[in-house]
Amino acid sequence: MSLRQKLGAALYDAMMKKPERAGLRSWRRELLEHARGDVLEIGIGSGANLPHYPDEVGRLIAVDPNPEMIRRIDIDSFAGQGPVEIVEGYAHQLPLADDCVDTVVSTLVLCSVRDIAEALAEIRRVMSPKGRFLFLEHVASHKPKVRRWQDRIDPLWHWCTGDCHMNRQTREAIEEAGFCFETLQREPMPKTPSLLRPAIRGVAVPC
Ligand SMILES: C[S@@+](CC[C@H](N)C(=O)[O-])C[C@H]1O[C@@H](n2cnc3c(N)ncnc32)[C@H](O)[C@@H]1O
Repeated sequence: MSLRQKLGAALYDAMMKKPERAGLRSWRRELLEHARGDVLEIGIGSGANLPHYPDEVGRLIAVDPNPEMIRRIDIDSFAGQGPVEIVEGYAHQLPLADDCVDTVVSTLVLCSVRDIAEALAEIRRVMSPKGRFLFLEHVASHKPKVRRWQDRIDPLWHWCTGDCHMNRQTREAIEEAGFCFETLQREPMPKTPSLLRPAIRGVAVPC
């Protein structure tokens, strides 16, 4: 594990305190209301979504490559019904069979995966044909001026964080992976630096 991964894990919750209080927590709750059955959460991080899962959720399988993040998870905060299983791994190589989960959740993760198309293909593979993909992601801006700055700063940002990109065209990538949107909202993430503020959230299903 790299020093950046260790540092990132140590600082993550502190850095997210203001956005969480200013509305991100409500976004999580609203999004996870759509979760049902067996759920896979990719990039679970320190487990910020766990208290927001509804009763209708059974088993939760979570995948994250950073053991320092996993170490911070409080499994008891999980509000669903079933057991929680946390696996060290990557979204582009999910250790799961085809069509085996009802819901896949990704919050603030698709900015960090090495290859977004590969990760989304894996998500489709493990999700049942009637499954739902719940996402909340910071993305490339629609505003040309902001986008230009995102493109300029991204190499440095990516180097500093070790994985995150600020200029991903995540909505387009979700569509290209064969999903259609049931709901899609584009709204600035509260109390977040301007280049990381453009965000999308919603529910996608296999087309
Ligand atoms: C910004 S944090 C978000 C954590 C959590 N999902 C949340 O909403 O607070 C990004 C997480 O994605 C994980 N991650 C990075 N690359 C990944 C990959 N290829 N597959 C799965 N998770 C990944 C990181 O280890 C980190 O825990």
